[in-house]
Amino acid sequence: MNLLRFDSEESWIAKVVSLWRDRLRTTPDLTMCLPTGTTPLRVYAEMARSVGVGLVSFARARVFVLDEFGGLAADDPGRTRNTLRHQLIDAIDLPPPAFHFLDPDIPDVTRHCKAYDAAIGDGFDLVLLGIGLNGHLGMNEPGSPSDSTTRRVDLHTTTIESSARYFSHHNLPQWGITVGLKTILGSKEVWVLANGASKREIVRRMIADEISPSNPASLLRRHPNCSLFVDAEAGGSLIAE
Ligand code: F6R
Repeated sequence: MNLLRFDSEESWIAKVVSLWRDRLRTTPDLTMCLPTGTTPLRVYAEMARSVGVGLVSFARARVFVLDEFGGLAADDPGRTRNTLRHQLIDAIDLPPPAFHFLDPDIPDVTRHCKAYDAAIGDGFDLVLLGIGLNGHLGMNEPGSPSDSTTRRVDLHTTTIESSARYFSHHNLPQWGITVGLKTILGSKEVWVLANGASKREIVRRMIADEISPSNPASLLRRHPNCSLFVDAEAGGSLIAE
């Protein structure tokens, strides 16, 4: 795993976005899987600006949402589809049919998940990930099988509690649908983004823990092309004191 550590959040954002622009220029039909959450917020804002000033284009790309919360109204701004649209998709030139998302309201979720995996096809060229405080990737909580595909999952209590910051109400989602670890681990390239002091301990554990599904993030150490981008605070435990 490549470790990229930056002195400031600004330089962390600039590097991620500049590499992302490079990938899109080299492979205009890039197939990507993107997370929501607090971590990528400013990365998306900078990428939207890049598209706005003509530095790069998503016109031939495909974007898949990494996961989705269940049990919320379709127009809830905290649903990942709505969040990603608001933070990135509506501001870039991605053709609407190239934006793929999960629908937790569909009656046959299993079939829907299979269709999502079929649409992903040969796998992602690039997956961007945040990291949960317990090591979850997407909604693949500790204990998720490493050969899992897109499926309905129950969220851990800590994940439910920490999701409160995404919502303006108290009806916190108890479950969701997520792209599975098999698909994430089988992607050509994976970037894990971590910023802020709250991620310091899980970043340390991602590198130091035994490689095991009990810490899904640790499984990425076996990926042949995974990069971990940390700012000074999230990477604080990685420098010799
Ligand atoms: C969201 C997702 C989650 C988050 C993780 C970190 O689509 O996949 O796994 O990446 O919970 O969340 P933040 O970035 O809010 O700290």
